Amino acid sequence: MTTDLTTLFDAHKFSELGHRLIDLLAEELQRNLDAGRPVLQWREPAIEDANWQAPLPQQPTLDLNGFIEKLKKDILPGNLAIHHPRNLGHQVATPLPVAALCDLVASLTNQAMAVYETGPTATMLERQVLRWLSTLIGWDSVAVNGVLTSGGAQANLTALLAARQHAGEKRIWQHGVSNERRLRILASEHSHYSIARAAGIMGLGTDAVMAIATDAGGRMRPEAIAEAHEGCRRNGEIVMAVVANAACTPTGSVDPLKVIGEYCAAHQLWLHVDGAHGASALLSGRHRHVLDGIALADSVTWDGHKLLYMPATVSAVLFRSAANGRQAFAQNASYLFEEKPQEEQDFNVSYRTLECTKRMMALKLWAAFSLYGVEGMAALVDEAFAKAGRFAEMIGATEDFELLMQPQTNIVCFRHLAAGINPSELNRHQAATRKHLIESGDFHLTQVELDGVLWLRTTLMNPFTQEADLQALLDAIRAQPASKAP
Ligand SMILES: Cc1ncc(COP(=O)(O)O)c(C=O)c1O
Repeated sequence: MTTDLTTLFDAHKFSELGHRLIDLLAEELQRNLDAGRPVLQWREPAIEDANWQAPLPQQPTLDLNGFIEKLKKDILPGNLAIHHPRNLGHQVATPLPVAALCDLVASLTNQAMAVYETGPTATMLERQVLRWLSTLIGWDSVAVNGVLTSGGAQANLTALLAARQHAGEKRIWQHGVSNERRLRILASEHSHYSIARAAGIMGLGTDAVMAIATDAGGRMRPEAIAEAHEGCRRNGEIVMAVVANAACTPTGSVDPLKVIGEYCAAHQLWLHVDGAHGASALLSGRHRHVLDGIALADSVTWDGHKLLYMPATVSAVLFRSAANGRQAFAQNASYLFEEKPQEEQDFNVSYRTLECTKRMMALKLWAAFSLYGVEGMAALVDEAFAKAGRFAEMIGATEDFELLMQPQTNIVCFRHLAAGINPSELNRHQAATRKHLIESGDFHLTQVELDGVLWLRTTLMNPFTQEADLQALLDAIRAQPASKAP
């Protein structure tokens, strides 16, 4: 059978299929919001894998009806139901439906964005969005000092590449990292693994990252930064960056950005704020004070697919100084970049990012801000933070649950002190409880180990999660038999 290639691009067929797909997704969204399905239909991955071993189709195996059926029967039900009110696990947004539609626009128009001419409007949308985010940080609203990346990990890497260039010998791109004076990164003991990974990628070795101790609230202790800095100086090492969290992944704690920023400014240290999770608090009149001092940072990571309610992926890495931002990738490729003045080069996004071909990521953020305004977006953040506060109160009012700390953002960690259980078995009990809740499909939550103690961890992102859902979670945990050593 030969394929009539024109049918693959038939605009009418696209429209027809598109309508059916959107209807299907709308039903799925409603089902999720109404909790009309399990959060997760747990299947053991090794068993499930056996269902996905079909031979590569040389000929079509599905028509469009069959494709819709497959989506309906196998693919959508097998997903983690992100919009489900009892999905309380990871820091993953319940994406705004309009943003998902923008991703469709991005996919079909496929603007490669490496250079201006391969995505003119995509480039301008990105510049606009970066200006807006810079304004929220408290920086210059005219200059475009940053780039959108596929994820916070890549944003962190980009920021640290710029910091390395700033601190080190300028021809590091050509000559590699020298052994003469060791480069160091001072980062919270709770920093995201992407910081150590960036150090590994940059050839510094993950040991270059010095873990800075935190206080009982999970916040980096400024005096510990000063001690580590002093130690590096004594050893002849260069601190290329201090990395502060806003907020940290395990507990959602926010480091004291103002004090740290002032220390870094006084000692000419590069401050990177990993705001992948919490930078969106800047939208909220009620919560932006949590991030006081963020404008002192040299670079900031900010994820759209967390508290900006975007589908993955869209993150921003923003720089206080445009010149520093350009240093992250101090390379040249003559087939892409002609010799042009810097301001013109800036329109070629791949000059400043790891990616060459890059998806049009800005449209969804631009649309959300345009349609809902900062106020509308802030309402989502306020709701998430308020829910975390309420959940902490509920836990605090019980005798059989322990709260790790008051939430500083929208992450709540706690554990169940099951009656009659030996304290040495409490960790096992939390893990077994979580496993049961996930595999039953009733709730999705995560766990985190801190100083040898295992905590259940919830990230409250979904505006549809009600107090009754949180109460039901506590009840479901209580209903688990105390798990003891075999
Ligand atoms: C503080 C922090 N930084 C960076 C990341 C990595 O972001 P991404 O998953 O978007 O790459 C995360 C992810 O959860 C995070 O919590």
